[in-house]
Amino acid sequence: MPYPNGLEWRAREPKPLMALNPTSNSQKRLGILISGRGSNMAALAEAVRKGRIPNAEIAIVISDKPLAAGLDRARELGFQTRLIERAGRSREEHDRETVDVLREHDVDFVCLAGYMRLLSTYFIEAFRNRILNIHPSLLPCFPGLDAQRQAIAHGVKWSGCTVHLVDETLDGGPIIGQRALPVLDEDTEESLSARILEQEHELYAEAVALVVSGDYRVVGRRVMKVRQALLPVTD
Ligand code: GRF
Repeated sequence: MPYPNGLEWRAREPKPLMALNPTSNSQKRLGILISGRGSNMAALAEAVRKGRIPNAEIAIVISDKPLAAGLDRARELGFQTRLIERAGRSREEHDRETVDVLREHDVDFVCLAGYMRLLSTYFIEAFRNRILNIHPSLLPCFPGLDAQRQAIAHGVKWSGCTVHLVDETLDGGPIIGQRALPVLDEDTEESLSARILEQEHELYAEAVALVVSGDYRVVGRRVMKVRQALLPVTD
């Protein structure tokens, strides 16, 4: 069956995944970008520590805000941190410094974790398909700020969270994973946010583990897990 990017897939005898991803067992280095309290950063750190994100380490935590509580938390957890303030600089100038720091630390994947800044094309090109973001709604519903408030105001009965690859669109890149949960009649923005956040912490670790493993393919807009029996047709 033809796929939009020209790849074809068909069932085959299972082969070791190493044949597909020769580098999948190498240690991957994560750069985490934050602007605020950093609970998703801490959840990723915990998941790495407990082996739920195998073959990964946190190389650097970067904040664009000096008062981000997540910076202190990252230091307490023993990570290298860097403050790269955005004040008074163009988006690209700021992004160039951030990309330089990520490269200095040999970062393979960038995890946006409450990073309240749109990325320039320069940044996205530098880490194309290697930048992940977490958003507190079932995208494509309610992109942008205050997603939980938007969900309550719209009266949806289900909401949740999404991890996606970052492209030039606002919260619009290919979706890696989602968790859904009901919006209760008694929910406020705060109570809904708190329940979504619990799901975020689990979902982000799962999504990062998948991407670090390399056992996925992006076909059009679809991020699909590669199963052992599905290998690319090369002959
Ligand atoms: C989370 O709700 C995340 O989905 C959104 O910003 C919030 C960050 O929270 N992008 P934290 O800083 O990780 O606690």
